[in-house]
Amino acid sequence: MIIRSTAFVKSSEKFEQCPPPVKPEYAFIGRSNVGKSSLINMLVNVKNLAKTSGTPGKTQLINHFEVNEKFWIVDLPGYGFAKAPKSVTAKWEIMIRGYLEQRENLMCVFVLIDTRIPPQKNDLEFIDKLGEQGIPLVLVFTKADKQSKTRTTAAVEKFKEAVAETWDELPMCFVTSAETKDGRKELLDFIEKSNPLFVPKKI
Ligand code: GTP
Ligand code: MG
Repeated sequence: MIIRSTAFVKSSEKFEQCPPPVKPEYAFIGRSNVGKSSLINMLVNVKNLAKTSGTPGKTQLINHFEVNEKFWIVDLPGYGFAKAPKSVTAKWEIMIRGYLEQRENLMCVFVLIDTRIPPQKNDLEFIDKLGEQGIPLVLVFTKADKQSKTRTTAAVEKFKEAVAETWDELPMCFVTSAETKDGRKELLDFIEKSNPLFVPKKI
């Protein structure tokens, strides 16, 4: 896919404020600091479209970006941010649950996993929940540049084994790096193939 245009659409505090579901959309989610915003920028080849930060908890809203006037990419706030106060975590839960359960143009959730960290309970629980709700997802392993290919392959296998404890069939997996742009073509191809499956709801 050639990226011809990108644009910021909207930041929403809650699901109800999201733009009308007229285009296919792809959401990026995962633990705080896993590299969601960086991956989005890498995919669309724009340095600061989504705001990134070395400090976890940077993305707080549901952020919509439009690509090629054709589809939307959604940057979501991370989960599992240990330092966040309970009130913030609870707000996150409500916002994300509403979004994931009700967003009718959501084609796929990209669940990001830091390749260097062993399988985490909150990641596995989140993946299980999406599966139970029948929300399409793929696993995206991030920051692959930070370790050797051998270690990355082993980490991906380990994570798959953990998922396989509760899943009959494993979701698709992509290995990426926002630094080296590994996985870019594969993810964009995946989106390009999924786009035609979008059926706009008749109003
Ligand atoms: P929140 O919005 O806080 O949930 O974080 P996020 O998941 O959007 O992470 P973000 O993209 O802001 O990146 C967090 C940190 O990881 C930043 O310092 C990035 O530069 C770094 N980072 C992200 N992706 C990569 C990668 O592929 N390789 C390397 N080396 N660093 C990365
Ligand atoms: Mg972010």
